[in-house]
Amino acid sequence: MGNLVNERKSYFVEKFYFGTVAAMSKRETLEIRSSSDIVHVRQQVRIWAVAMGFGLVDQTKIVTAASELARNTVDYGKGGTVTLETLQSGSRKGLRLIFEDKGPGIPDIALAMTDGYTSNHGLGLGLSGSKRLMHEFELVSQVGEGTKIAIVRWR
Ligand SMILES: Nc1ncnc2c1ncn2[C@@H]1O[C@H](COP(=O)(O)OP(=O)(O)O)[C@@H](O)[C@H]1O
Ligand SMILES: [Mg+2]
Repeated sequence: MGNLVNERKSYFVEKFYFGTVAAMSKRETLEIRSSSDIVHVRQQVRIWAVAMGFGLVDQTKIVTAASELARNTVDYGKGGTVTLETLQSGSRKGLRLIFEDKGPGIPDIALAMTDGYTSNHGLGLGLSGSKRLMHEFELVSQVGEGTKIAIVRWR
């Protein structure tokens, strides 16, 4: 395992706060610019989830959430990155995925989180569905600056 970093999860102001003090032991950042990058993100997330011992159902939940957020990063965020992190909190392991873009941002987060809301021609289930599939979901967005979404699934 790489460097063990003890960090209090409060590096997003306001809405972003993980009460859990967890150790982050492994981290990797991937570019998300195209549909082929989304395929790569899906593959990497699956590999990490398998390596962490997540079962098939959990793997699929995490990959599905990652796929939706990666798609949004391309479609709305003008491209960006995802950072994969393994967390350890006591005896619990977690997989955290942080999506970041410097796109237009989300003017009304509550509206964007609503089931079925799309500003485009989507199904409007990407954000709300991702939230349901994971244990933690934190979104910070600033109009004109970009969007940052972190999701965690624990096992
Ligand atoms: N990274 C992002 N940057 C800007 N806007 C976003 C981003 N992600 C989502 N949105 C906005 O939130 C809406 C809802 O997203 P989502 O639930 O994935 O549904 P869909 O992609 O089908 O529209 C999008 O239509 C878009 O307006
Ligand atoms: Mg979407």
